[in-house]
Amino acid sequence: MNIALSALGRRTAPPPISWLMQTALARPKLISLAAGFTDNETLPVGFSRQLLNEILRTPKTGRPALQYGTTTGDEKLRQLTAAHLQKLDGGPDRAHAPERILITGGSQQLLYLTLEALCDEGDLVLVEDPTYFVFLSILQSRGLRARGVKLERDGIDLAQLEKILTQLKQSGQLRRLKALYLVTYFQNPTGATTTLAKKRAALTLLKKFERAAGHPIYLIEDAAYRELRFDHDADVPTALTLPGARDRVIYAGTYSKPFATGVRVGFGLLPEPVYTAVLRIKGNHDFGTASLLQQLLTRALATGTYDRQVAKARKNYARKAAVMRRALAEHFPAAVEIWEAGGGLYFWARLPKGISAGVNSKIFQAALKHNVLYVPGELCYADDSARRKPANELRLSFGNASVENIRTGIRRLGAVLKKFL
Ligand SMILES: Cc1ncc(COP(=O)(O)O)c(C=O)c1O
Repeated sequence: MNIALSALGRRTAPPPISWLMQTALARPKLISLAAGFTDNETLPVGFSRQLLNEILRTPKTGRPALQYGTTTGDEKLRQLTAAHLQKLDGGPDRAHAPERILITGGSQQLLYLTLEALCDEGDLVLVEDPTYFVFLSILQSRGLRARGVKLERDGIDLAQLEKILTQLKQSGQLRRLKALYLVTYFQNPTGATTTLAKKRAALTLLKKFERAAGHPIYLIEDAAYRELRFDHDADVPTALTLPGARDRVIYAGTYSKPFATGVRVGFGLLPEPVYTAVLRIKGNHDFGTASLLQQLLTRALATGTYDRQVAKARKNYARKAAVMRRALAEHFPAAVEIWEAGGGLYFWARLPKGISAGVNSKIFQAALKHNVLYVPGELCYADDSARRKPANELRLSFGNASVENIRTGIRRLGAVLKKFL
């Protein structure tokens, strides 16, 4: 008998990270610097209890929280989200209007729905090289193609972006190109932040090639880690603030990383006609994100609890990043290039060329033997036949590991690397 799965059902590969997580669970002594989880200790248990108690104290506030809502999301939450973004981006701006906002089940849902609304099988998306591996999994599952644009410490290599766009134009492929996806703040996996100048230049380049494409080419800005900024860097405005961005930038934001990953409320700011298409598809997915969770965030934002939690989280991550930085300086061989971020959850380590830290490498096996786990950087590279996937990189997360485990984990990993370099 044939299997009764759709093409998508058959094609969708297991998430590359799932066996990493299983490995971690199967070895209780293993120190995981792999998971992109947020810090357990600082999750807002007390704040959430208090806010939920307030919401459920009376039928007047409790009932809407326990009832279905609208597909677009809670009105007040959309207004507060618009105001929050305006504050982050500096000053009032029509690009942040509440009517352009859609509340979603994490920003992950927004990314998935956006690709559903924009892309047919075989279509092309440009991504940072390397990029967020779950985004790559969506592309794989949906039968979409990716081209990687080299990521530098301040954003993508613009000359390479132009070269790829030119090649696509010459080969007649530009009409299949729908979007450029950038994780612009403390990127997963490298920690790199894109400058406003690079966002502007990228947007200008996409526009320049639109005529040949025959349709808009969207810039998808994923700002998942934006608010996890340590104090010493200034915040960078989003691409939404740029001239001409209103019709071309799709912004994916989240309350998940800064507040609580388990609450899983995200949002998108989208131009028409993408907004309406995504809204209708979301209607078919879930006809609205869970009301209780939306109410929790609405209240957290309205009462200032959200800001207090974010301040706490930022301070904590800055401290843990400093611990990792010192441990890396002490234990890693000098030949390893470290990308240090001013926020987020990750450090990126690059070994000398030709030395593999990939899934099948001796280094990865030795690290496991010494009970320490990292994300092999090769998992973060799109399948793009125009270049070989580098395998000499590691993503190291300080998000959920304790200070003690960060120190011990980096020491163990440093000892492994010294053997191989
Ligand atoms: C770059 C990036 N974007 C989006 C997400 C999705 O986060 P959420 O769905 O919790 O908002 C993640 C989660 O790890 C991420 O790393």
